[in-house]
Amino acid sequence: MTRLSLWQGDITTLEVDAIVNAANESLLGGGGVDGAIHRAAGPELLAHCRTLGGCPTGQARLTPGFRLPAKWIVHTVGPIWRGGGHGEAELLASCYRESLALAVQQGARRVAFPAISCGVYGYPLVEAARIAVDTVRAWCREHPGLDEVIFVCFGDTICQAYRQILAED
Ligand code: AR6
Repeated sequence: MTRLSLWQGDITTLEVDAIVNAANESLLGGGGVDGAIHRAAGPELLAHCRTLGGCPTGQARLTPGFRLPAKWIVHTVGPIWRGGGHGEAELLASCYRESLALAVQQGARRVAFPAISCGVYGYPLVEAARIAVDTVRAWCREHPGLDEVIFVCFGDTICQAYRQILAED
């Protein structure tokens, strides 16, 4: 059984096999968690990302962690919230599934996710947290191999949303 846990803090400090980045389609960096990951991983990350040719929304790409304590970074592109009627929920779920699949392919046993799309991209927190937990739980039931999936929250509001959802089920 994969353990699902909650951790509050900066994802770039985590010593896990893979951390997930909430990137944009260019994969060339940005603000939020993406900016923090690029700063902490060092300029080799951007040089590597330039060779990848971007990534469509809902998909994921893998890079080494470079100067991070994490071995790998899975870069995924969450949907921009446009009211909910533009396939946002399915795209967000796809980010979680694709990221887990890539991480497990690399042999990862511990993976950490930020709250994809919950910052600049404006996804409502409770809905996003529910999709994150439900999707990860369902995926892990069907795909053994992971010891732990950590939901990293950066701030109290998102932490409360996750805590409530994890406690309910
Ligand atoms: N560790 C963990 N979580 C963090 C960190 C951190 N160091 N920093 C921010 N968060 P966002 P998005 C949280 O905006 O909404 C970028 O410019 C943050 O509080 O980083 O998917 C990309 O290049 C929020 O809960 O990502 C894209 O253009 C969550 O991470 C765009 O933002 C996601 O917020 C992607 O927007």
